[in-house]
Amino acid sequence: MKVSKLLLGLLVSCAALGASAQTIIKFSHVVALDTPKGKAAEFFAKKAAELTKGKVKVEVYANSSLYKDKEEIEALQIGAVQMLAPSLSKFGPLGVREFEAFDLPFIFDSTAELHKITQGPVGAGLLAKLEPKGIRGLAFWDNGFKSFTANSPLKTPADFKGKKFRIQSSKVLEEQIRSVGGIPQVMAFSEVYQALQTGVVDGTENTISNIYTQKTHEVQKYLSLTNHGYIGYAVIVNKKFWDGLPADIRGQLEQAMNEATVYGNNIAQEENDQALVGVRKSGKTLVYEPSKEERLALKTAMAPVHVKMADRVGKDMLQSIYKGVLE
Ligand code: LMR
Repeated sequence: MKVSKLLLGLLVSCAALGASAQTIIKFSHVVALDTPKGKAAEFFAKKAAELTKGKVKVEVYANSSLYKDKEEIEALQIGAVQMLAPSLSKFGPLGVREFEAFDLPFIFDSTAELHKITQGPVGAGLLAKLEPKGIRGLAFWDNGFKSFTANSPLKTPADFKGKKFRIQSSKVLEEQIRSVGGIPQVMAFSEVYQALQTGVVDGTENTISNIYTQKTHEVQKYLSLTNHGYIGYAVIVNKKFWDGLPADIRGQLEQAMNEATVYGNNIAQEENDQALVGVRKSGKTLVYEPSKEERLALKTAMAPVHVKMADRVGKDMLQSIYKGVLE
């Protein structure tokens, strides 16, 4: 009897040891699997398992299945999840307002310009600002440029007047919508489809991959390819968790993250292009390509947002972005 109890105890401890030998990383995000972020997260999970030889298991929770927009970062800070890739807009409400510079309309003319910031010293400086919040920033992942949708054509700034647009929680985005006479409505990503379907809001802005995978095109008659702003992500981890990992494991995970970043950023444009093909094929929404002049008119109408928001996002931050893209 005594021996079997001892054996049982031994078995239990072995099982516990076995269980603790594998580290679980819960990686939560709000978008579909079939998007740049969704695919990069899956890639990272696979690479992490491979490079750590199964010592780390990354569980990816897509589609807001674990947490919605605002809750995500709080969950990370208390350690309920270990990894996230929130859009850059999400860091403004956290108190790191410099991130809201990425929400400024027409701030980048191309992905190449954007990468000068996210892949350079300005990007590194931004990630460092998350440390006092208990967050370690690992990488910037691209999605792409945003376009507007509505149930009526959006060709000129006047077409936005009086319409309610869903935006992410960002003071800069609020001001952007107001600059063309629209009414901004902050809403979680997971609630957008229904809000559009039921007419709670008239329109929205997002990247084409998000528009397509959320089926926005099924409940919006017009998509105007304005490419007026950017959506990308910062991949972040709970700092205490990350610092507590054995150095060799952390190194392998960093390598997996580097590879996932290269992969994700390489496929982002293609994913958005494919999504546009899908939207067009659906025949459910009319895709409008604004002329150069129309796009310029929108840019001009939205330009005062930069001035109005300069104090909020920080004049130094703005200057380093304006300067950085020219270098
Ligand atoms: C949104 O809420 O529109 C986006 O941030 C979703 C995302 O993560 O791409």
